[in-house]
Amino acid sequence: MPEQKDRIESPTARGLDERALKYSASIAYDRRLYRHDIAASIAHARMLAKQGIIPGDDAHSILRGLGEIREEIERGEFPFREELEDIHLNIEARLQEKIGEAAGRLHTARSRNDQIATDMRLFVIEACDDAVASIRRLQTALLDLAEANQNAVMPGYTHLQRAQPVLFAHHLLAYFEMLDRDSGRFLDCRSRADELPLGAGALAGVPYPLDREFVASELGFSRVSRNSIDAVADRDFVVEFQAAAAAAMMHLSRLAEEIVLWSSDEFGFLRLPVTFTTGSSIMPQKRNPDVAELARGRTGRAYGNLIAILTMLKGLPLAYNRDLQEDKQPLFDTVDTLLATLEVLTALLPALEVRSERMESAAAESYALATDVADYLVRKGMPFREAHQAVADLVRYAEGEGKSLRGLSLEEYRRFSPLFEHDVLALDVRASVAARDVPGGTAPSRVAEALKLARERLRDEA
Ligand code: ARG
Repeated sequence: MPEQKDRIESPTARGLDERALKYSASIAYDRRLYRHDIAASIAHARMLAKQGIIPGDDAHSILRGLGEIREEIERGEFPFREELEDIHLNIEARLQEKIGEAAGRLHTARSRNDQIATDMRLFVIEACDDAVASIRRLQTALLDLAEANQNAVMPGYTHLQRAQPVLFAHHLLAYFEMLDRDSGRFLDCRSRADELPLGAGALAGVPYPLDREFVASELGFSRVSRNSIDAVADRDFVVEFQAAAAAAMMHLSRLAEEIVLWSSDEFGFLRLPVTFTTGSSIMPQKRNPDVAELARGRTGRAYGNLIAILTMLKGLPLAYNRDLQEDKQPLFDTVDTLLATLEVLTALLPALEVRSERMESAAAESYALATDVADYLVRKGMPFREAHQAVADLVRYAEGEGKSLRGLSLEEYRRFSPLFEHDVLALDVRASVAARDVPGGTAPSRVAEALKLARERLRDEA
């Protein structure tokens, strides 16, 4: 078969067993890297011509061919072939069909090892940018919800027991902070992914006068890798992305869990819109919080994907090993899971009906003001530990009487301390939140300020 000579030889043509091919082919999923692969090939070909390593005419044909291939893929007309194993060989073989012999010059001074490392870094950088943008949209939705309900007071919880009154907006701003740290982790990951591997070759570098800085700047990388062995063996940037995504999903899962709890009859703080709930096939009254439940449930997938990449890497000798191909599916799955979860929660938040009267009465009817009563005694001169004991006794008494703190008379208060005076009856949830006037506290003026600063932070980062 003389015409085989100038074709990309498929692994099966070289004698690879069909079953081995089926086991090792990655084209079914790594086709997702086509844009990054083509962009890297274009930058590489330009550099090869500029350096006089390949003829300018050939580089020209290569660039034209790669452009056409990108369009074929985008139109869904590209003939993907499993026997060509991965995205690199599929594109190169198609290039050969299109432009003939010149295609054979593209792989000069390159290996699939530095090629895939480059594609993966480009992919992760893009995924970090997408994650940061999606997080910002969810943060905006949180601020909108907080601003629309600035006066709502709810019981804050510890141990899932009503603890102290807080502003609902203050509670939402806690999620804003978590998401802010998540953004920071993706930006950190991005900064370490931002390094060009091309030029490392298979592992030792290549015997051609490359201009690596040129390729880096064509592709938007801010620097080139410093060690060729590390460049092809390293997937830390995938680990970092998975770790950042696992933490972000953990936060989204906590938010989802609160949506599930708060929309239950037991809490009744939120009502979910019909557009984001499902009914039951048997119980006509149900409005199930499926979206929040699935967000909570999918978090486990992100954790699993983090463990998968860490485990895959831990025993690998340097440099490239085929195991590294296993970095892709878990990464793609995490990117899809994370972005979809951020998107659906961003859509859900503005559709929530906030039942602020239920929140406020839950705060008022409970013993959430007990700390305020103790602080009252402290202001009258009692040491805090003693005040704590007096109020503990008071609460036990009230519970026994089946009364809330508001339901007690001044005479009843005085049984526990003579320091109680008429003004103790004026303590209420609004006074309680207003009193927490420290930086980072839940006093309305502090929360209004925090909302303003949060808006500014989003604006500055954009
Ligand atoms: N499909 C491979 C991967 O994802 C590309 C690199 C293959 N290199 C090799 N020497 N077989 O890792």
